[in-house]
Amino acid sequence: MLQHKKILLGITGSIAAYKAALLARELQRRGAVVRVVMTPSATEFITPLTLATLTGHKVYSDFTENKDSGEWTNHVELGLWGDAFLIAPATAQTLSAMVSGTCDNFLMAVHLSSRCPVIVAPAMDLDMFQHSATQANLQTLQNRGVPIIEPDSGALASGLEGKGRMAEPEAIADWMEDWLQKQAPLNGKKVVITAGPTHEPIDAVRFIGNRSSGKMGFALAQELQSAGADVHLIAGPVQLTAPSGVQVTHVETAVEMHKAAMVAFAQADIGIATAAVADYRAKTVVSNKLHRDEMPPAVELEENPDILADWGKHKKSGQFLVGFALETDQGEDSAKLKLKRKNLDFIVLNSTMDQGAGFGTDTNKISIFEKNGKSHIFELKSKAAVAQDITKLIMTLLPQ
Ligand code: CTP
Repeated sequence: MLQHKKILLGITGSIAAYKAALLARELQRRGAVVRVVMTPSATEFITPLTLATLTGHKVYSDFTENKDSGEWTNHVELGLWGDAFLIAPATAQTLSAMVSGTCDNFLMAVHLSSRCPVIVAPAMDLDMFQHSATQANLQTLQNRGVPIIEPDSGALASGLEGKGRMAEPEAIADWMEDWLQKQAPLNGKKVVITAGPTHEPIDAVRFIGNRSSGKMGFALAQELQSAGADVHLIAGPVQLTAPSGVQVTHVETAVEMHKAAMVAFAQADIGIATAAVADYRAKTVVSNKLHRDEMPPAVELEENPDILADWGKHKKSGQFLVGFALETDQGEDSAKLKLKRKNLDFIVLNSTMDQGAGFGTDTNKISIFEKNGKSHIFELKSKAAVAQDITKLIMTLLPQ
Protein backbone atom coordinates (compact mmCIF):
# COMPACT_ATOMS: atom_id res chain seq x y z
CA MET A 1 0.00 0.00 0.00
CA LEU A 2 2.91 2.38 0.51
CA GLN A 3 4.11 1.96 -3.07
CA HIS A 4 4.53 5.46 -4.62
CA LYS A 5 2.71 7.08 -1.68
CA LYS A 6 3.99 10.53 -0.76
CA ILE A 7 4.56 10.66 2.97
CA LEU A 8 5.44 13.96 4.58
CA LEU A 9 7.24 13.03 7.79
CA GLY A 10 7.10 15.62 10.57
CA ILE A 11 9.69 15.24 13.31
CA THR A 12 9.36 17.11 16.58
CA GLY A 13 11.67 17.56 19.57
CA SER A 14 11.70 14.28 21.44
CA ILE A 15 14.51 11.81 22.06
CA ALA A 16 12.45 9.44 19.88
CA ALA A 17 13.44 11.69 16.94
CA TYR A 18 16.41 9.34 16.42
CA LYS A 19 13.92 6.61 15.47
CA ALA A 20 12.54 8.86 12.72
CA ALA A 21 15.59 8.03 10.62
CA LEU A 22 14.70 4.33 10.80
CA LEU A 23 11.07 5.17 10.13
CA ALA A 24 11.96 7.18 7.01
CA ARG A 25 14.01 4.23 5.76
CA GLU A 26 11.29 1.71 6.50
CA LEU A 27 8.64 3.76 4.70
CA GLN A 28 10.93 4.07 1.70
CA ARG A 29 11.78 0.38 1.77
CA ARG A 30 8.05 -0.26 1.36
CA GLY A 31 7.90 2.01 -1.67
CA ALA A 32 6.93 5.40 -0.21
CA VAL A 33 8.48 8.71 -1.22
CA VAL A 34 9.40 10.55 1.99
CA ARG A 35 10.04 14.25 2.56
CA VAL A 36 10.84 15.60 5.99
CA VAL A 37 9.92 18.70 7.98
CA MET A 38 11.35 19.23 11.45
CA THR A 39 10.77 21.58 14.33
CA PRO A 40 13.87 23.55 15.40
CA SER A 41 14.08 21.48 18.59
CA ALA A 42 13.96 18.21 16.61
CA THR A 43 17.16 19.30 14.84
CA GLU A 44 18.90 19.14 18.21
CA PHE A 45 18.11 15.42 18.52
CA ILE A 46 18.89 14.39 14.94
CA THR A 47 20.46 16.36 12.14
CA PRO A 48 18.58 17.40 9.01
CA LEU A 49 21.63 16.14 7.10
CA THR A 50 20.94 12.56 8.27
CA LEU A 51 17.35 12.72 7.05
CA ALA A 52 18.20 14.53 3.83
CA THR A 53 20.79 11.85 3.06
CA LEU A 54 18.38 9.02 3.83
CA THR A 55 15.42 10.44 1.92
CA GLY A 56 17.30 12.08 -0.95
CA HIS A 57 15.27 15.25 -0.36
CA LYS A 58 16.00 18.54 1.25
CA VAL A 59 14.77 18.77 4.85
CA TYR A 60 12.87 21.84 5.99
CA SER A 61 12.83 23.34 9.46
CA ASP A 62 12.69 27.07 8.86
CA PHE A 63 10.71 29.57 6.81
CA THR A 64 13.85 31.02 5.33
CA GLU A 65 16.94 29.28 4.06
CA ASN A 66 19.05 32.22 3.15
CA LYS A 67 17.92 35.12 5.26
CA ASP A 68 19.91 37.70 3.24
CA SER A 69 18.39 36.72 -0.10
CA GLY A 70 14.83 37.06 1.16
CA GLU A 71 13.96 33.58 -0.13
CA TRP A 72 11.40 31.69 1.87
CA THR A 73 10.31 28.08 1.91
CA ASN A 74 6.85 27.41 0.68
CA HIS A 75 5.01 25.63 3.48
CA VAL A 76 1.83 25.60 1.40
CA GLU A 77 3.51 23.63 -1.39
CA LEU A 78 4.77 21.05 1.14
CA GLY A 79 1.37 20.92 2.82
CA LEU A 80 -0.24 20.08 -0.49
CA TRP A 81 2.44 17.62 -1.62
CA GLY A 82 1.80 14.68 0.71
CA ASP A 83 -0.76 11.91 0.55
CA ALA A 84 -0.39 11.84 4.34
CA PHE A 85 1.40 13.98 6.96
CA LEU A 86 2.81 11.67 9.61
CA ILE A 87 4.10 13.49 12.69
CA ALA A 88 6.40 11.02 14.44
CA PRO A 89 7.46 11.62 17.10
CA ALA A 90 4.75 14.06 18.16
CA THR A 91 5.60 15.76 21.47
CA ALA A 92 3.06 16.96 24.06
CA GLN A 93 3.91 20.51 22.94
CA THR A 94 3.15 19.69 19.27
CA LEU A 95 -0.15 17.97 20.15
CA SER A 96 -1.17 21.05 22.12
CA ALA A 97 -0.13 23.36 19.28
CA MET A 98 -2.12 21.26 16.83
CA VAL A 99 -5.21 21.61 19.01
CA SER A 100 -4.88 25.38 19.37
CA GLY A 101 -3.77 25.95 15.77
CA THR A 102 -0.54 27.57 16.90
CA CYS A 103 1.78 28.45 14.07
CA ASP A 104 5.06 29.30 15.75
CA ASN A 105 7.39 27.14 13.64
CA PHE A 106 7.66 25.88 10.08
CA LEU A 107 6.24 22.41 10.84
CA MET A 108 3.14 23.94 12.43
CA ALA A 109 2.65 26.16 9.36
CA VAL A 110 2.81 23.06 7.16
CA HIS A 111 0.29 21.43 9.51
CA LEU A 112 -2.17 24.29 9.05
CA SER A 113 -1.62 24.28 5.26
CA SER A 114 -1.92 20.55 4.72
CA ARG A 115 -5.01 19.18 3.01
CA CYS A 116 -4.01 15.54 3.35
CA PRO A 117 -4.80 13.46 6.47
CA VAL A 118 -2.53 14.16 9.45
CA ILE A 119 -1.49 11.25 11.67
CA VAL A 120 0.38 11.49 14.97
CA ALA A 121 2.66 9.05 16.78
CA PRO A 122 3.04 10.58 20.25
CA ALA A 123 6.26 10.22 22.26
CA MET A 124 6.77 11.56 25.76
CA ASP A 125 7.31 10.63 29.36
CA LEU A 126 4.54 8.56 31.01
CA ASP A 127 3.30 11.35 33.31
CA MET A 128 3.16 13.79 30.41
CA PHE A 129 1.25 11.24 28.37
CA GLN A 130 -1.20 10.50 31.17
CA HIS A 131 -1.72 14.16 32.05
CA SER A 132 -5.33 15.17 31.60
CA ALA A 133 -4.25 18.05 29.33
CA THR A 134 -2.44 15.69 26.94
CA GLN A 135 -5.27 13.19 27.02
CA ALA A 136 -7.78 15.97 26.31
CA ASN A 137 -5.63 17.16 23.39
CA LEU A 138 -5.45 13.64 21.97
CA GLN A 139 -9.22 13.31 22.35
CA THR A 140 -9.76 16.62 20.54
CA LEU A 141 -7.45 15.58 17.71
CA GLN A 142 -9.19 12.23 17.44
CA ASN A 143 -12.57 13.98 17.30
CA ARG A 144 -11.20 16.07 14.43
CA GLY A 145 -10.32 12.88 12.58
CA VAL A 146 -6.59 12.76 13.34
CA PRO A 147 -5.62 9.09 13.81
CA ILE A 148 -3.27 8.38 16.70
CA ILE A 149 -0.62 5.68 16.63
CA GLU A 150 -0.58 4.65 20.28
CA PRO A 151 2.75 4.82 22.07
CA ASP A 152 4.29 1.67 23.54
CA SER A 153 4.91 0.89 27.18
CA GLY A 154 8.40 0.23 28.43
CA ALA A 155 11.59 1.91 29.61
CA LEU A 156 11.57 5.66 28.99
CA ALA A 157 14.46 8.08 28.53
CA SER A 158 13.65 9.55 31.97
CA GLY A 159 14.46 6.21 33.58
CA LEU A 160 10.78 5.64 34.38
CA GLU A 161 8.76 2.73 33.04
CA GLY A 162 5.37 3.16 31.42
CA LYS A 163 3.40 4.21 28.37
CA GLY A 164 4.89 6.97 26.25
CA ARG A 165 7.59 5.45 24.02
CA MET A 166 6.96 6.16 20.38
CA ALA A 167 5.80 3.00 18.56
CA GLU A 168 8.66 1.20 16.79
CA PRO A 169 9.36 2.28 13.17
CA GLU A 170 8.28 -1.11 11.76
CA ALA A 171 5.03 -0.98 13.73
CA ILE A 172 4.36 2.57 12.48
CA ALA A 173 4.99 1.48 8.88
CA ASP A 174 2.64 -1.51 9.39
CA TRP A 175 0.04 0.82 10.86
CA MET A 176 0.39 3.16 7.85
CA GLU A 177 -0.12 0.26 5.45
CA ASP A 178 -3.26 -0.93 7.27
CA TRP A 179 -4.60 2.59 7.42
CA LEU A 180 -3.93 3.26 3.73
CA GLN A 181 -5.61 -0.03 2.88
CA LYS A 182 -8.73 1.04 4.78
CA GLN A 183 -8.72 4.46 3.07
CA ALA A 184 -8.32 2.94 -0.39
CA PRO A 185 -11.39 3.39 -2.63
CA LEU A 186 -11.58 -0.29 -3.60
CA ASN A 187 -10.83 -1.65 -0.12
CA GLY A 188 -12.72 -4.92 0.39
CA LYS A 189 -13.48 -5.37 -3.32
CA LYS A 190 -12.46 -8.63 -4.96
CA VAL A 191 -11.32 -8.45 -8.58
CA VAL A 192 -10.58 -11.31 -10.94
CA ILE A 193 -8.64 -10.60 -14.14
CA THR A 194 -7.90 -12.99 -16.98
CA ALA A 195 -4.68 -12.15 -18.81
CA GLY A 196 -2.30 -13.27 -21.53
CA PRO A 197 -2.81 -15.83 -24.27
CA THR A 198 -3.85 -19.45 -23.99
CA HIS A 199 -1.89 -22.28 -25.58
CA GLU A 200 -3.94 -25.10 -27.06
CA PRO A 201 -1.77 -28.19 -27.56
CA ILE A 202 -1.69 -30.14 -30.82
CA ASP A 203 0.97 -32.60 -29.74
CA ALA A 204 3.68 -32.77 -27.06
CA VAL A 205 5.57 -29.77 -28.51
CA ARG A 206 3.17 -27.79 -30.70
CA PHE A 207 0.31 -25.52 -29.78
CA ILE A 208 -2.15 -22.99 -31.18
CA GLY A 209 -1.48 -19.64 -29.55
CA ASN A 210 -1.39 -15.90 -30.13
CA ARG A 211 0.88 -12.91 -29.54
CA SER A 212 -0.77 -11.56 -26.38
CA SER A 213 1.86 -10.52 -23.79
CA GLY A 214 -0.51 -10.11 -20.83
CA LYS A 215 0.87 -6.60 -20.16
CA MET A 216 -2.53 -4.90 -20.08
CA GLY A 217 -3.97 -7.40 -17.58
CA PHE A 218 -0.90 -7.17 -15.34
CA ALA A 219 -0.96 -3.34 -15.46
CA LEU A 220 -4.61 -3.44 -14.39
CA ALA A 221 -3.78 -5.85 -11.56
CA GLN A 222 -1.18 -3.37 -10.30
CA GLU A 223 -3.50 -0.38 -10.54
CA LEU A 224 -6.51 -2.07 -8.94
CA GLN A 225 -4.35 -3.37 -6.13
CA SER A 226 -3.04 0.15 -5.49
CA ALA A 227 -6.66 1.24 -5.26
CA GLY A 228 -7.07 -1.28 -2.42
CA ALA A 229 -8.70 -4.18 -4.27
CA ASP A 230 -7.95 -7.80 -3.54
CA VAL A 231 -6.77 -8.95 -6.98
CA HIS A 232 -6.68 -12.47 -8.44
CA LEU A 233 -4.95 -12.83 -11.82
CA ILE A 234 -5.65 -15.87 -13.94
CA ALA A 235 -2.81 -15.82 -16.40
CA GLY A 236 -2.03 -17.84 -19.48
CA PRO A 237 1.62 -18.43 -20.46
CA VAL A 238 3.31 -15.00 -20.02
CA GLN A 239 6.80 -13.74 -19.23
CA LEU A 240 5.66 -11.31 -16.55
CA THR A 241 5.96 -11.13 -12.77
CA ALA A 242 2.79 -10.29 -10.91
CA PRO A 243 2.82 -7.37 -8.49
CA SER A 244 3.51 -8.62 -4.96
CA GLY A 245 0.33 -9.30 -3.03
CA VAL A 246 -1.63 -10.22 -6.15
CA GLN A 247 -2.84 -13.82 -6.19
CA VAL A 248 -1.92 -15.56 -9.45
CA THR A 249 -3.26 -18.77 -10.94
CA HIS A 250 -1.17 -19.93 -13.89
CA VAL A 251 -3.00 -21.80 -16.62
CA GLU A 252 -2.13 -23.04 -20.07
CA THR A 253 -5.35 -23.68 -21.99
CA ALA A 254 -8.72 -21.98 -22.41
CA VAL A 255 -10.44 -24.85 -20.61
CA GLU A 256 -8.12 -24.45 -17.60
CA MET A 257 -8.59 -20.67 -17.67
CA HIS A 258 -12.37 -21.09 -17.86
CA LYS A 259 -12.44 -23.45 -14.88
CA ALA A 260 -10.30 -21.17 -12.67
CA ALA A 261 -12.13 -18.02 -13.83
CA MET A 262 -15.60 -19.38 -13.04
CA VAL A 263 -14.59 -20.39 -9.51
CA ALA A 264 -12.96 -16.99 -8.85
CA PHE A 265 -15.81 -14.97 -10.37
CA ALA A 266 -18.38 -16.55 -8.03
CA GLN A 267 -16.69 -14.67 -5.13
CA ALA A 268 -15.71 -11.52 -7.04
CA ASP A 269 -17.18 -8.03 -7.19
CA ILE A 270 -15.45 -7.18 -10.46
CA GLY A 271 -14.46 -9.38 -13.40
CA ILE A 272 -12.12 -8.10 -16.12
CA ALA A 273 -11.34 -10.20 -19.18
CA THR A 274 -8.15 -9.02 -20.86
CA ALA A 275 -7.05 -12.49 -21.97
CA ALA A 276 -6.72 -13.36 -25.64
CA VAL A 277 -8.38 -16.72 -25.27
CA ALA A 278 -8.04 -19.12 -28.20
CA ASP A 279 -11.56 -19.62 -29.53
CA TYR A 280 -10.72 -23.16 -30.73
CA ARG A 281 -8.60 -26.09 -29.57
CA ALA A 282 -7.43 -29.24 -31.33
CA LYS A 283 -10.06 -31.98 -31.08
CA THR A 284 -7.46 -34.63 -30.41
CA VAL A 285 -4.13 -33.97 -28.75
CA VAL A 286 -1.31 -36.38 -29.52
CA SER A 287 0.71 -37.16 -26.39
CA ASN A 288 4.07 -37.56 -28.16
CA LYS A 289 5.73 -35.36 -30.79
CA LEU A 290 4.29 -35.82 -34.26
CA HIS A 291 7.06 -36.43 -36.78
CA ARG A 292 6.99 -34.71 -40.15
CA ASP A 293 5.54 -37.75 -41.93
CA GLU A 294 2.88 -38.20 -39.21
CA MET A 295 1.53 -34.66 -39.42
CA PRO A 296 -2.11 -34.56 -40.52
CA PRO A 297 -2.80 -32.18 -43.43
CA ALA A 298 -5.39 -30.44 -41.25
CA VAL A 299 -6.00 -30.16 -37.51
CA GLU A 300 -9.60 -30.69 -36.56
CA LEU A 301 -10.76 -28.02 -34.11
CA GLU A 302 -13.48 -27.76 -31.52
CA GLU A 303 -14.83 -24.67 -29.83
CA ASN A 304 -13.47 -23.41 -26.51
CA PRO A 305 -15.73 -21.96 -23.84
CA ASP A 306 -16.25 -18.20 -23.99
CA ILE A 307 -15.16 -17.26 -20.47
CA LEU A 308 -16.44 -13.70 -20.52
CA ALA A 309 -19.80 -14.69 -21.98
CA ASP A 310 -20.10 -17.27 -19.20
CA TRP A 311 -19.27 -14.62 -16.59
CA GLY A 312 -21.99 -12.50 -18.18
CA LYS A 313 -24.51 -15.35 -17.90
CA HIS A 314 -23.70 -15.91 -14.21
CA LYS A 315 -23.40 -12.21 -13.32
CA LYS A 316 -25.33 -11.46 -10.13
CA SER A 317 -26.67 -8.06 -9.14
CA GLY A 318 -23.81 -5.94 -7.80
CA GLN A 319 -21.17 -7.69 -9.90
CA PHE A 320 -19.39 -5.55 -12.46
CA LEU A 321 -18.04 -6.86 -15.73
CA VAL A 322 -15.45 -5.42 -18.11
CA GLY A 323 -14.41 -6.93 -21.42
CA PHE A 324 -11.82 -6.10 -24.04
CA ALA A 325 -12.12 -6.21 -27.80
CA LEU A 326 -9.03 -6.24 -29.97
CA GLU A 327 -10.09 -5.53 -33.51
CA THR A 328 -8.15 -5.17 -36.73
CA ASP A 329 -10.51 -2.53 -38.14
CA GLN A 330 -12.09 0.46 -36.34
CA GLY A 331 -14.13 -2.12 -34.49
CA GLU A 332 -16.73 0.08 -32.77
CA ASP A 333 -19.75 -1.88 -33.98
CA SER A 334 -18.17 -5.22 -33.21
CA ALA A 335 -17.15 -4.05 -29.71
CA LYS A 336 -20.66 -2.78 -28.99
CA LEU A 337 -22.12 -6.13 -30.07
CA LYS A 338 -19.75 -7.95 -27.70
CA LEU A 339 -20.72 -5.53 -24.91
CA LYS A 340 -24.34 -6.55 -25.28
CA ARG A 341 -23.87 -10.23 -26.10
CA LYS A 342 -21.61 -10.82 -23.08
CA ASN A 343 -23.73 -8.74 -20.64
CA LEU A 344 -20.90 -6.31 -19.82
CA ASP A 345 -20.91 -3.01 -17.96
CA PHE A 346 -18.35 -1.64 -20.35
CA ILE A 347 -16.03 -2.80 -23.08
CA VAL A 348 -12.54 -1.53 -23.86
CA LEU A 349 -11.77 -1.39 -27.56
CA ASN A 350 -8.27 -1.34 -28.96
CA SER A 351 -7.57 -1.55 -32.64
CA THR A 352 -4.41 -2.78 -34.35
CA MET A 353 -5.05 0.06 -36.85
CA ASP A 354 -3.79 2.47 -34.16
CA GLN A 355 -0.04 2.57 -33.99
CA GLY A 356 1.24 1.59 -30.52
CA ALA A 357 -1.96 -0.27 -29.60
CA GLY A 358 -2.54 -3.99 -29.19
CA PHE A 359 -0.39 -7.04 -28.45
CA GLY A 360 3.09 -6.84 -26.98
CA THR A 361 3.43 -3.04 -26.91
CA ASP A 362 3.99 -0.99 -23.76
CA THR A 363 1.37 1.50 -24.91
CA ASN A 364 -2.27 1.31 -25.83
CA LYS A 365 -4.95 3.50 -27.37
CA ILE A 366 -8.41 2.66 -26.17
CA SER A 367 -12.03 3.65 -26.47
CA ILE A 368 -14.55 2.61 -23.84
CA PHE A 369 -18.22 1.95 -24.51
CA GLU A 370 -20.56 1.77 -21.55
CA LYS A 371 -23.74 -0.30 -21.55
CA ASN A 372 -25.80 2.89 -21.26
CA GLY A 373 -24.43 4.13 -24.57
CA LYS A 374 -21.83 6.56 -23.20
CA SER A 375 -18.40 6.44 -24.85
CA HIS A 376 -14.92 7.64 -23.87
CA ILE A 377 -12.07 8.08 -26.35
CA PHE A 378 -8.52 8.19 -25.00
CA GLU A 379 -5.14 9.18 -26.46
CA LEU A 380 -2.23 6.76 -26.91
CA LYS A 381 -0.74 6.18 -23.44
CA SER A 382 1.43 3.76 -21.50
CA LYS A 383 -0.44 0.62 -20.46
CA ALA A 384 0.01 1.76 -16.82
CA ALA A 385 -1.79 5.04 -17.62
CA VAL A 386 -4.49 3.17 -19.54
CA ALA A 387 -4.96 0.95 -16.47
CA GLN A 388 -5.47 4.11 -14.41
CA ASP A 389 -8.17 5.38 -16.78
CA ILE A 390 -9.98 2.04 -16.69
CA THR A 391 -9.71 1.81 -12.88
CA LYS A 392 -11.07 5.35 -12.47
CA LEU A 393 -14.08 4.54 -14.62
CA ILE A 394 -14.72 1.30 -12.70
CA MET A 395 -14.65 3.29 -9.44
CA THR A 396 -17.15 5.79 -10.85
CA LEU A 397 -19.57 3.19 -12.18
CA LEU A 398 -19.28 0.43 -9.54
CA PRO A 399 -22.55 -0.09 -7.67
CA GLN A 400 -22.18 1.13 -4.05
N1 CTP B 1 -13.08 -13.85 -24.29
C1 CTP B 1 -13.17 -14.86 -23.37
N2 CTP B 1 -13.19 -16.15 -23.77
C2 CTP B 1 -13.13 -16.48 -25.08
C3 CTP B 1 -13.02 -15.46 -26.04
C4 CTP B 1 -13.01 -14.16 -25.62
O1 CTP B 1 -13.21 -14.57 -22.18
N3 CTP B 1 -13.14 -17.74 -25.44
C5 CTP B 1 -13.11 -12.46 -23.86
C6 CTP B 1 -11.81 -11.72 -24.10
O2 CTP B 1 -10.98 -11.81 -22.95
C7 CTP B 1 -12.31 -10.31 -24.32
C8 CTP B 1 -13.66 -10.48 -24.96
O3 CTP B 1 -14.08 -11.80 -24.62
O4 CTP B 1 -12.52 -9.61 -23.11
C9 CTP B 1 -13.68 -10.32 -26.44
O5 CTP B 1 -12.76 -11.15 -27.02
P1 CTP B 1 -12.55 -11.23 -28.59
O6 CTP B 1 -11.53 -12.27 -28.89
O7 CTP B 1 -12.37 -9.85 -29.11
O8 CTP B 1 -13.99 -11.67 -29.05
P2 CTP B 1 -14.66 -12.99 -29.37
O9 CTP B 1 -15.85 -13.08 -28.49
O10 CTP B 1 -13.71 -14.15 -29.36
O11 CTP B 1 -15.16 -12.70 -30.85
P3 CTP B 1 -14.36 -12.67 -32.22
O12 CTP B 1 -13.19 -13.62 -32.06
O13 CTP B 1 -15.39 -13.16 -33.16
O14 CTP B 1 -13.95 -11.27 -32.48
